[in-house]
Amino acid sequence: MNGSPSARRTLAAVAVALAAAPLLLGNQPGGARPASATFERYAVAADEASASDVGAAILEQGGTAADAAAATMLALGITSPLSSGFGGGGFALYYRASDRSVTFLDFRERAPAASRPDMFAPAQGERPEDRATQPSQVGGLAVGVPGEPAGIEELLRRFGRLGRRAVVAPAIRMAQAGVPISEYVAGLSMPFVDDLRRDPIMRGWVGEGETAMRAGALMRNAALARTLEAFSARGARAVYRGAIAQQIARAVRQAGGILTPRDLADYRVVERTPLEGSYFGYRFVTAPPPSAGGYTMLASLAQLERVLPRDRFCRASEPNRVHALAESWKGPFRDRAVYFGDPDHVTLPLDALRAAARTEARARAYDPRRALDPEAYAMPLEGEPRAPTAQPRSGGTTHLCVVDAEGNVAAVTTTVNLFFGARFTAAGLVMNDEMDDFARAIGAPNAFGLPGGPQNLPGPGKRPVSTMTPTIVIGDAGPVLCIGGAGGSRIVTATEQVALRILAQHLPLDRALAAPRFHHQGFPNVLNYEPSLDAQTQAAMRGRGHRLEEMEHIAAVQAIQIRPTAPRLLAASDPRKGGAPAGR
Ligand code: DON
Repeated sequence: MNGSPSARRTLAAVAVALAAAPLLLGNQPGGARPASATFERYAVAADEASASDVGAAILEQGGTAADAAAATMLALGITSPLSSGFGGGGFALYYRASDRSVTFLDFRERAPAASRPDMFAPAQGERPEDRATQPSQVGGLAVGVPGEPAGIEELLRRFGRLGRRAVVAPAIRMAQAGVPISEYVAGLSMPFVDDLRRDPIMRGWVGEGETAMRAGALMRNAALARTLEAFSARGARAVYRGAIAQQIARAVRQAGGILTPRDLADYRVVERTPLEGSYFGYRFVTAPPPSAGGYTMLASLAQLERVLPRDRFCRASEPNRVHALAESWKGPFRDRAVYFGDPDHVTLPLDALRAAARTEARARAYDPRRALDPEAYAMPLEGEPRAPTAQPRSGGTTHLCVVDAEGNVAAVTTTVNLFFGARFTAAGLVMNDEMDDFARAIGAPNAFGLPGGPQNLPGPGKRPVSTMTPTIVIGDAGPVLCIGGAGGSRIVTATEQVALRILAQHLPLDRALAAPRFHHQGFPNVLNYEPSLDAQTQAAMRGRGHRLEEMEHIAAVQAIQIRPTAPRLLAASDPRKGGAPAGR
């Protein structure tokens, strides 16, 4: 790919849209709905109000948290197709109250069988602006085998009660009748209008002569309604085999991809043991590899607890907390870049990475007065592969939380990766561009500036490393918090910050979500901060040697706090994205 003027225009327009996004947030059509609310029986917190309503209606019918999570995911695929949907994939973490078990379902996309480690090798002299149009992000090669249909089926099979037809029905109606385009979707659509107009379905979402999707106009997807009807009647096999699978494979190949009907037929959801650890008096249960998000959060919490223990964390000044957190992310993000890959294909030395001695060495390296070079926290394991370094951007993804009347909890993060995924549809599905989460070459950054090592090169059937961090935090009497977010590399740092604000600083949920965020991912060695972070803290961080860069919008987090007494459920959608929770 070259740095054509059109590539540069796309990148510049995406940057403008992203910078404008927060201004649009909280400004949904007709939407004076508050971003947080309290409930007694059940609650759903999605990043879009009508999707929360769909989940709440399923709970009202007696559905479980799994039924509601599935219905909400399907609704989000209609209302916000630039973020998630049947053409994408994700992770679901499920707490079952009856036996207190926590199950992790991995329905992440897999690389097609014809994938090769060098399939996205960067061209000589590639510049950052060239990346927005590269084949790992746009077009057929960017597409991993979608996991969401199989993921939803498995979630319902394991934990559902109402049956597939009841759960899928609202989404079919929405796709057929159309849904009003939200301010959020409209505001982000402008840079993609040329791509949308090239697609037979998405072109219907942009009015004649208009330069962007228009808020309030109806967005229909009759082809997706047909695919959902087939799924409703026959389950995931209706999507992964037969006519729809043929249609998907054909469309991907026409867009320059290598996906075959066989790849679709071979797709499997994987149940994995969640990753967990106890910090700050709570048990954090979260995503295992192929997500690096869970590991990053737990490794950061382990270091944090040593340098700023529970009683001091709460009383610490904001600059001391920001510094301790920023320093705690540098080591784990480096580990991700060097060691992480699909655990079904490569060996991940998780125990060695999480060894107490290593955390202690990092805590000893920590200097409360001074920002360290990320390499100061390296603590390489023996025989470490070559360490990559690298640079960021943004995209789709959605996180939702559900707590039902029986105390079951679902935390689901799902995505098509960047906005509008690979920017074409097949059988009504907006196809993901999850292949960009692989390392295009050792050390080459993905769209979020995250470099990958040899373990994360593309390969047949491999799942790319993710940051998605659906998390359930458990106290002595059961779950106390369901949380997770969207926002690429910022998912994990935002999820952890909000969780700590609620559980360790005891801030009310809405304030914990609204508070200014910061982010550090080691590479680049930059502390990002939202403009609302107070000037004193910014100055204090500069004084300690951090290089600061403003970032308008650090992730979108949804959360439900579960309490023993009324109000039992505090639910909130991130005010940055304009969603609202629902429940009773
Ligand atoms: O799996 C991941 O980590 C990414 N594909 C997530 C992308 C994302 O969150 C886009 N941003 N909002």
